[in-house]
Amino acid sequence: MAETSSVTDGIHYHQHDVLIIGGGGAGMRAAIEAAPKASTAVITKLYPTRSHTGAAQGGMAAALANVEEDSNEWHTYDTVKGGDYLTDQDSAEILTREAIDAVYDLENMGLPFNRTPDGKIDQRRFGGHTRDHGKAPVRRACYAADRTGHMILQTLYQNCVKHGVEFFNEFYALDLVMTETPLGKRVAGVVAYELATGEIHVFQGKAVIFATGGFGKIYKTTSNAHTLTGDGVGIIWRKGLPLEDMEFYQFHPTGLAGLGILLTEGARGEGAILRNASGERFMERYAPTIKDLAPRDIVARSMVQEVLDGRGAGPNKDYVYLDCTHLGAEVLETKLPDITEFARTYLGVDPVVERVPVYPTAHYAMGGIPTNNDAEVLSDNETVIPGLYAAGECACVSVHGANRLGTNSLLDINVFGKRAGNNAVEYARTADFVDLPTDAADGVVKMLAQMREGTGTESVAEIRKALQETMDRNAQVFRTEETLQTALADIAKLRSRYPNVRIHDRGRRFNTDLLEAVELGFLLDLAEVVVVSAINRKESRGAHMRDDYPTRDDVNYMQHTMAYRTAAETGASQGIRLDWKPVRVTHYQPTERKY
Ligand code: FUM
Repeated sequence: MAETSSVTDGIHYHQHDVLIIGGGGAGMRAAIEAAPKASTAVITKLYPTRSHTGAAQGGMAAALANVEEDSNEWHTYDTVKGGDYLTDQDSAEILTREAIDAVYDLENMGLPFNRTPDGKIDQRRFGGHTRDHGKAPVRRACYAADRTGHMILQTLYQNCVKHGVEFFNEFYALDLVMTETPLGKRVAGVVAYELATGEIHVFQGKAVIFATGGFGKIYKTTSNAHTLTGDGVGIIWRKGLPLEDMEFYQFHPTGLAGLGILLTEGARGEGAILRNASGERFMERYAPTIKDLAPRDIVARSMVQEVLDGRGAGPNKDYVYLDCTHLGAEVLETKLPDITEFARTYLGVDPVVERVPVYPTAHYAMGGIPTNNDAEVLSDNETVIPGLYAAGECACVSVHGANRLGTNSLLDINVFGKRAGNNAVEYARTADFVDLPTDAADGVVKMLAQMREGTGTESVAEIRKALQETMDRNAQVFRTEETLQTALADIAKLRSRYPNVRIHDRGRRFNTDLLEAVELGFLLDLAEVVVVSAINRKESRGAHMRDDYPTRDDVNYMQHTMAYRTAAETGASQGIRLDWKPVRVTHYQPTERKY
C-alpha cells in the first residue's frame, strides 16, 4: 500500500492510493471500504464528527418491515414520486435495495438504534414514505432518537479509526489536479491548505472521492452550518466539469422561525401537527391522505401559502406552528430530545406545552456533481472520468430527482459512499499514480497570496450577506422569471466586487478570515449556477416552483439540467452553458402527484 510524505520548498507532499475529500458520512463510509485494502486518506475541512451529516436528525430509510408491512418496491415508488419523476429510477432501485444492508452494516458497526420492545431496530414515519403506493404513511425510518446523523458520524469515525484511515483534519482542499496522459485526462491528486499552519499540502492519489457536502450557505435562512459552502462542488465546477440539476434546492418545512435551525420531520413522524394562526391543521387541505407527512416540497409550499394568504401566526403573521403538545413529555424527552432543547434554547418555547413557531429553511441540494450508479464522476451525460468519484450531498446520482424524501439522505451517503469506496479501491488496485506536474500547487499558492495581500476595500461579510439575502428573497420556495433575474443581477454585482475583498488577518495560522474569503468565491459561483439553471427551467417540478409556470411540463422538461462553465467569463458572470440529460425511467411513468 502506497503511503509516503515529504517536504519540498515549504510544500508538503503525500501519497495515498485513495484520497477522500470530506469527512462526513459519505466520506467516512467510503473510507471504511477503502482502508482495509489500500492506503486511504481523508482530507477534511472539519473534525469529522462535526460534519453536517449530524443535522440529518430523524432517521435513515430502509424497508426492514420491522414494525409493519413494507417493501423495497414501495420505497422506490415513493422515492420516484417524491422526486416528482425526475429521479433516475434504476438508481432509486439500487438505493432502496441496498438500504437494508446499509442499516445492518451500521448496526454491526455499533450504531445504537432505537429498539422495538422485541429488540428489533425501531422505525418511524417520515414525509412521503407510504404503504402500498401512497395509501397511508408507513414506518420506514430507522432512527436513534433525533440524533441519527450524529450517531452515524460517531459510529463511522470509530470504524475508520479501527481500519487505520489517515485523517487530515482541518485541511481545506482547494484544487483537484488532473493531467493529460496518453490514456486521456487523469486524476493526479489534490491540493489542500492546512488551517492550523497556513501550509500547503499536495496529495498524490490514484483515486479521488469527493464527499464534501452541500452549499446551503448560499441562503441566509438555512439549516446548514457555516461550513456548508460548496467547496467540493465548486472545485469540480472550476475544473470545467458539469453540474446537474442545480435549480432543485430543498426547503425543509420545519426550521425554527427566523433562525432556520432544523426541527426534525421525525416530530411529525411521531404525530406532531402543523397549524396556522387560527389553529387549523391546514395540511388536510393540501394533502388529504397523508397530511403533515406529505413530501417536503409540498409541505414547505403549503406553509408559505398559508403565510401569503394571511393565515400566518405571530406579530408579522410570517410563520406557522408545529404542535407537539399532544405527544407528551415522555415522547418528546426520549424520542425527540434535541429538537425539544433547540426550541427551548433558541426560541424560549417549550414544545411540551407550547406550539413552536416554524418556517421553511434551506436544507439540501438535490443537484451537484453528476455521477453514475458506481459513483464515478461524469464529464458529460455519460463519459466517466477514470479515478474520480463523488458521493453524498455534493453528488447527483440522481436518486432524489426534484425533491429528496426525508431520511433518504442518510441512506444515500451510506449506499453511494460504500459504492464510491469499493469502486475507488478497485480502480486503485490496477491503476498507476499519475505524475504530479511540478507546478501542481502554484494556482492555490497564488490565489491565497493574492487574497491575503490584497489591498481592496470590500468586506467578505457584506458580500456574503447580500448574496444570502437576495437568494432568500428571490430564489425561494416560490420563484418567477422576475425574482430570479433580480437575483442574477445582484449576484453579478457581487461577483464584480469580490476581487476587491480585503482580508484583515494577514497571518498564516488559523486564518479564518482568509478561509471565509475563499468560501465566498465558491458560494458566488454556485449561486449563479443555481439561478441560471432555475431561470432555464420554465415549469414547476418538486422543489422548483415557478409561479409564472405553475404546472409540470413532462413533454419539455422531464430532463436533468446539465450546466457547463464556458470560457466566456467576464468577472460579473462565469459564462454558463446549459444542456439536458434524459431521465432514466424503468417502471413508473409520470402521473399527477397527489398525496
Ligand atoms: O428532518 C430531518 O430529520 C432531516 C432529515 C433529512 O434531511 O434526511
